[in-house]
Amino acid sequence: MKAKSSIGIIGVGTIGSIIAERLISKGYTVYGSRRSKFKFSGMHTTTDNRMLIKNSDIIIIATKQKDVKELGSSINSALGRKLVISIMAGVSISQIERILGGKMVSRAMTNIAFSDGRAISAFCCNKMLSKSDKALIKTILSTGGEVIEIEEKLMDPFTVIDSCAVAFYSMLLNSINVSASKTLGFDPKLAKWIILNTMRATLEKASSHDTFEEMIHQVSTKGGMTDAGLNVLKEGDLYGLVDKAYGAALKRGLELSSIAEQS
Ligand SMILES: NC(=O)c1ccc[n+]([C@@H]2O[C@H](COP(=O)([O-])OP(=O)(O)OC[C@H]3O[C@@H](n4cnc5c(N)ncnc54)[C@H](OP(=O)(O)O)[C@@H]3O)[C@@H](O)[C@H]2O)c1
Repeated sequence: MKAKSSIGIIGVGTIGSIIAERLISKGYTVYGSRRSKFKFSGMHTTTDNRMLIKNSDIIIIATKQKDVKELGSSINSALGRKLVISIMAGVSISQIERILGGKMVSRAMTNIAFSDGRAISAFCCNKMLSKSDKALIKTILSTGGEVIEIEEKLMDPFTVIDSCAVAFYSMLLNSINVSASKTLGFDPKLAKWIILNTMRATLEKASSHDTFEEMIHQVSTKGGMTDAGLNVLKEGDLYGLVDKAYGAALKRGLELSSIAEQS
């Protein structure tokens, strides 16, 4: 194999584009496909997945779950013994083997911070992959940040805490931004700047504490302003609400798995 493998990305959408841009910036040769013609700086673009597979050492599958069946019927046995990395949430290794016809299959998950090399990505593999295949997958994923290998049963839970969490944190920050302007009277832009800096400082401080709970105790004084706000969050069962949201996201992983079967 060449010094840097050529990578084919089937499904250059939101996450496919982010991964492609990062790989291109790190000197990889990248082929990418969509169902209709498109342009992408630095990429060999195509609508022909068989051509993409032929020209690539490693294939990343980044389509939506509902498109897996159709993709499978168009690439049939084309994947052969090419290394496949699927980043589709919920779709299992055995489904990728069966529906797409992959033999050398890994499943990975990442998030949009891949673009700046700040993502945590995780992967798992089928039994066909050797130590050097795994090392290659690690090298590719590490262009986007830190990489861990986990058991397949942890892939959906990891998706919740990693990929989905970016949106969960953003919604939480947005709710604070809305209150800071609506109830506290700040200009939304100024509020956003204060919130981001306070959040950064909080994250840095939190890394030197064993638990987040310690931070809560350190900042709140019984009967003080923080305590008054925390009481409302407790009464509204913030912990229960977050637990429900994480549970719902996890359950959706199973549903996505069956969508890949039905489409
Ligand atoms: N968004 C995230 O943050 C994120 C993070 C990690 C993992 N994921 C996973 O990544 C997958 C894609 O998510 P997304 O948000 O990037 O979706 P998206 O923006 O809809 O991208 C999917 C892409 O797949 C293309 N596509 C569909 N069928 C195709 C085919 N047969 N051949 C070639 N291209 C095909 C679509 O283009 P055309 O319609 O033009 O064909 C589209 O560009 C999902 O399975 C999701 O679970 C997403």
